[in-house]
Amino acid sequence: MHKKLLIPGPTEVSQEILHEQTHPLIGHRSKEFSQLYAGIIKKLTRFFELPANCKPTVTTASGALWFDIVGRSIVQNKALVCINGAFSERFGNAIKACGKNANFLEFAWGEAVKPDAIAEELETGEYDTVTICHNESSTGTRSPIHEIGKIIRKDYPEVMLAIDSVSSMAGDKILPAEIGCDVIFASTQKCFALPPGLAISLVSDRALERAKQVPNRGAYTDLVDIFKFEKKHQTQSTPNIPLFYALDKRMDLLLEETYNKVYHRHKDMAEYTQQWAKKHFEMFPEQGYESITVSCIKNTLGKKVKRLNEKLEEQGFTIGNGYGKLKEKTFRIGHMGEWNTAAIKQVLAIIDEIWRLET
Ligand SMILES: Cc1ncc(COP(=O)(O)O)c(C=O)c1O
Repeated sequence: MHKKLLIPGPTEVSQEILHEQTHPLIGHRSKEFSQLYAGIIKKLTRFFELPANCKPTVTTASGALWFDIVGRSIVQNKALVCINGAFSERFGNAIKACGKNANFLEFAWGEAVKPDAIAEELETGEYDTVTICHNESSTGTRSPIHEIGKIIRKDYPEVMLAIDSVSSMAGDKILPAEIGCDVIFASTQKCFALPPGLAISLVSDRALERAKQVPNRGAYTDLVDIFKFEKKHQTQSTPNIPLFYALDKRMDLLLEETYNKVYHRHKDMAEYTQQWAKKHFEMFPEQGYESITVSCIKNTLGKKVKRLNEKLEEQGFTIGNGYGKLKEKTFRIGHMGEWNTAAIKQVLAIIDEIWRLET
């Protein structure tokens, strides 16, 4: 039996979307591909309300490619890397692996990144880039990127703000014009509810200007080269063409639902899940900073998540374990992409039954 995915990615993909990938292949240098890609760019621009100075690009790779693109093409000398979980740490390690300096501004797992701490560090004048993970999937914590963006844009106009929105874009509020960020990226297997394999990034013209000043940008990670191909609505290398068809369809569906309704659907699911969690367990993240796409719940009752999943799977669902060092201490319910509150209620009611939780 197929187990519907309520893990923090990959998330469930509908048959309608999967079917889009069965289009006969076309050449990636053909007019047809350029038309398909130009349509996707237009739809991304509309959905994310991009101003003229911010442009989308779709790269063939998982989201982590953009850790390297930021490391290679954006960081000039030294980055301030905000760390509050496993993925923000990976972002920082990637920047160092690209040969750049990085100072890790660390918060405990489950804490949100605090704007004041960033402001204090930036006063040293040492940094040309700030990196942050909006939605730490490892801890279900959502950091206040709008407040952080405001501080950087007001006081440090030359500093680039690069945001990992891998598990929040197309679910949570991440409009670049509202945040004032320079690079914000996501993977297709999360809130876009597509198979993995593409990364979507929204990039400011300032970021592109910065990249032109940065030497040794690599090849696949060269932002300037990526945008050279964008001008022709093409990609540097052979892209995952079947997934481009699926993304095109997804953007139609997202536009039809509208940005605000997509956000409220995710918020609703999170609120329902959190109420349920607080009734039986505790939420892991700092209060007020809970993710709206993945709920990370403290396993205060010492329940066996593996055994739960064996039973849940018989009914066609699976949820997520805790991540890394939180594996036994927490469990995670991914409510992103095409899920809605009615379905979440159904799954949580099944968990109530399996775990014999009081209702
Ligand atoms: C917050 C976050 N950042 C980055 C990544 C890495 O993305 P990918 O696996 O698409 O490379 C993930 C993957 O789960 C994630 O949740």
